[in-house]
Amino acid sequence: MTIWSRLKDHHESQGALRIEALFDADPARAMDFCTSAHGLVLDWSKTSIDARARDLLMELAGPVPQRREAMFTGQRINETEDRAVLHTALRNQGGSITLDGRDVMPEVRRTYERMRAFAAAVRAGDFTGQGGRITDVINIGIGGSDLGPAMATLALAPWHDGPRVHFVSNVDGADIADTLKGLDPATTLVIVASKTFTTIETMTNAKTALDWMAATVADPATQFIALSSATDRTGEWGIDETRVFGFEDWVGGRYSVWGPIGLSLMIAIGPDEFDRFLAGGAAMDDHFRNAPLAENLPVILALVGIWHHQICGYATRAVLPYDNRLARLPAYLQQLEMESNGKRVAMDGSDLTLPSGPVVWGEPGTNGQHAFYQLIHQGTAVVPCEFIIAARGHEPDLAHHHLLLIANCLAQSEALMRGRSLDEARALMQAKGLTGAELDRQARHRVFPGNRPSTTLLIPELSPYTLGQIVALYEQRVFTEGVILGINSFDQWGVELGKELALKLAPLLRGEPAPGHDPSTEHLARLIRQARA
Ligand code: F6P
Repeated sequence: MTIWSRLKDHHESQGALRIEALFDADPARAMDFCTSAHGLVLDWSKTSIDARARDLLMELAGPVPQRREAMFTGQRINETEDRAVLHTALRNQGGSITLDGRDVMPEVRRTYERMRAFAAAVRAGDFTGQGGRITDVINIGIGGSDLGPAMATLALAPWHDGPRVHFVSNVDGADIADTLKGLDPATTLVIVASKTFTTIETMTNAKTALDWMAATVADPATQFIALSSATDRTGEWGIDETRVFGFEDWVGGRYSVWGPIGLSLMIAIGPDEFDRFLAGGAAMDDHFRNAPLAENLPVILALVGIWHHQICGYATRAVLPYDNRLARLPAYLQQLEMESNGKRVAMDGSDLTLPSGPVVWGEPGTNGQHAFYQLIHQGTAVVPCEFIIAARGHEPDLAHHHLLLIANCLAQSEALMRGRSLDEARALMQAKGLTGAELDRQARHRVFPGNRPSTTLLIPELSPYTLGQIVALYEQRVFTEGVILGINSFDQWGVELGKELALKLAPLLRGEPAPGHDPSTEHLARLIRQARA
């Protein structure tokens, strides 16, 4: 019998077990199912994972150490693209990492020093636009070339003391039009961030930005920067190689915030704070690589995820940061988790026999409470929730806000687990003076089934260092889930088809002969042509 079957059997044998009963049975559960490392605390006690499930899940993690070493030591674990996976080198604080007989670290450090010098020059006003000191930076990129720096720049707003930073990603002209409005081309720096330097959205937006600047600035390319693995292509844009920051193909797009793609963040918060962000990531790597599996945060987070999705069958998971500045974290994690683990075949090409990664979604608390928590509490689908909360906020004068924020976060996880029984709801209605059938009817609407699982990640405060820890924690969690599911977490063939078809559709929209489209698409294109005529 496989571990998977044993886990499923065990889950079935739990029947109608309530999470609360696990606390009754084990007075130490709150401590036993709570794992700390480097100041981060992950409470996973409010789940239905009991001691037996934990043991079985730990067995699943058996192949992780060997694969983990293969990743950290530069083996080509991205087998479908024949690439190593070495984004960890970008935050490596230790010695050499050898790939194909060559130490990659000297080049990583050289580029990093160039980034530091450039960011410092922009911030100090030593690198200027044609109108003087740079006031605004626009990062043009999409997916991994946007979400990481955009998420982190917002998260680290209290450290943002450099020029204003804007992010343009969508090919919808509204995005760049709204961003350029009010900016002075003569004091704006444009960063074109694209690993491949071919992504149509980014190239279209970059060209629009170049034209905008060219209208008033002579030689606008001098205010353009390129971040890419395809350094042969950046020259075509007239961007001098001194302003090109390259990285290798072993840095996946959604794992790239740690290197050149993080330049906009570095300009915003300064090189020293960016160092602390890297140090947080490195500390998490060190923990992931060395801590025993049973005390390993990414491994535990991965196993909780597998328990909920592959074993219990919950289709989605919500990431609920109780931190307004982590508003973009769910979107960032959507790409990280769903592009990495949304696969249908195993590494060897065979069909997966288990579900792959879940749908990941979320919003910051408390706002989400007044929007979709209704479904989480009383809907028929169970949504495991991953709460994130800092013990301290950033606004000392507003400490009472932060206390309320924490109270809301803890109240939600407690309410999700405990719920409200029919008896309790009836008592409430009785107190309001209701009787008979109406009392029953109204009470039933006020029942919360409870028994809804959640984890809580407690951090001391949101800072460059802890953000680095959080991002690396989730990266290594995704890696661990991928290893356990036997999939390649580092390719993304699923996004290719849409890209190809979008290019093929342009002629159809122009009314040119374009065979090979389905009738619905042809019909829609015809309607759109008519509406635009
Ligand atoms: O959406 C697919 C994707 O390839 C992502 O993996 C990547 O982060 C994004 O496009 C942007 O790609 P690039 O950095 O090459 O422009």
